Amino acid sequence: MADEPLVLGIETSCDETGVGIVRGTTLLANAVASSVDAHARFGGVVPEIASRAHLEAMVPTIERALKDAGVSARDLDGIAVTAGPGLAGALLVGVSAAKAYAYALDKPLYGVNHLASHICVDQLEHGPLPEPTMALLVSGGHSSLLLAPDITSDVRPMGATIDDAAGEAFDKIARVLNLGFPGGPVIDRLAKEGDPNAIAFPRGLTGSRDPAYDFSFSGLKTAVARWVEAKRNAGEDVPVRDVAASFQEAVVDVLTRKAVRACKDQGVDHLMIGGGVAANSRLRALAEERCERAGIRLRVPRPGLCTDNGAMVAALGAEMVARNRPASDLELSADSSLPVTDPHVPGNHDHDHDHDHLHEISKENLYS
Ligand code: KG4
Ligand code: ZN
Repeated sequence: MADEPLVLGIETSCDETGVGIVRGTTLLANAVASSVDAHARFGGVVPEIASRAHLEAMVPTIERALKDAGVSARDLDGIAVTAGPGLAGALLVGVSAAKAYAYALDKPLYGVNHLASHICVDQLEHGPLPEPTMALLVSGGHSSLLLAPDITSDVRPMGATIDDAAGEAFDKIARVLNLGFPGGPVIDRLAKEGDPNAIAFPRGLTGSRDPAYDFSFSGLKTAVARWVEAKRNAGEDVPVRDVAASFQEAVVDVLTRKAVRACKDQGVDHLMIGGGVAANSRLRALAEERCERAGIRLRVPRPGLCTDNGAMVAALGAEMVARNRPASDLELSADSSLPVTDPHVPGNHDHDHDHDHLHEISKENLYS
């Protein structure tokens, strides 16, 4: 609808330069330039390489998104940008670009949270999020269960990983199996040809006395690495497909079990899954199966909206505009450890305390 806010979103928290444009909950453009290939030989994202790549890709990606959406920058109602969490130098490129465009075009600026954006993006696929929303957020840097009564202002952590993130576990196991980086997509593919029950890998924090909603993947990672090493030491072939399938099953079994339990305990009848790992085909299938059995409605965006992108930032920005949330001011800083409980970074004018906090962090980022 023409009266819904037209918002451009910029995402540069990791290795994807993403620029998305939405009108309300309608996706108009989602341009992504990835530097993933430049990091592959290092086995992980190299922050300095990511920052430089963002700098080169920023303006062309913004122009491509505007062209794809068929809109003029002058027509925008706001510019949203990932203010954190993420790599400090990478975030800084997006935040600086967003400020420059907001200033030059005289448009309101919205510094938003990357994690809340991974949840809000589902509005582009399945319409407005129910309130509250139960969300399982699984990415390269985070694994959390979140209860969000209002995605623009109230996000409550129910549980989180106590060690590795789910995506990190995929990436580390891919390295053990010499499959390259990032590990998630290749393990997903190989696992389809393997037996998920071939090897009984451990399910972390699933004992009756363990915290119900927290996760742990480091024990699993060690168990898989030891199993593979024992095979190699014995001079035997490593059944890569079976290892991939059994490892993946252990991860998605725990994720879906705990997410369904959280929904039941809290009386929430639907579950949203977001973040890069939500692109995993087995996670999607098992979640569907278990949610259906429990009478829970599952919402997962299509894979291209699960991995980092600008549309998710625009989606949350549009929601901020629609709900009249205060805009950020031009002193907005990137906050590499922005807590999940802060969906957006409002202006300093009505948050004096936050101002000091942001100021300290920006100094810290400069000198660290
Ligand atoms: O959300 P995202 O794009 O970036 C972060 O915010 O971290 O997530 C990236 C993570 C990587 O660890 C990657 O291996 C994982 O998501 N991933 C997958 C799949 N596609 C991406 N993990 C499992 N299966 C997939 N198909
Ligand atoms: Zn992400």
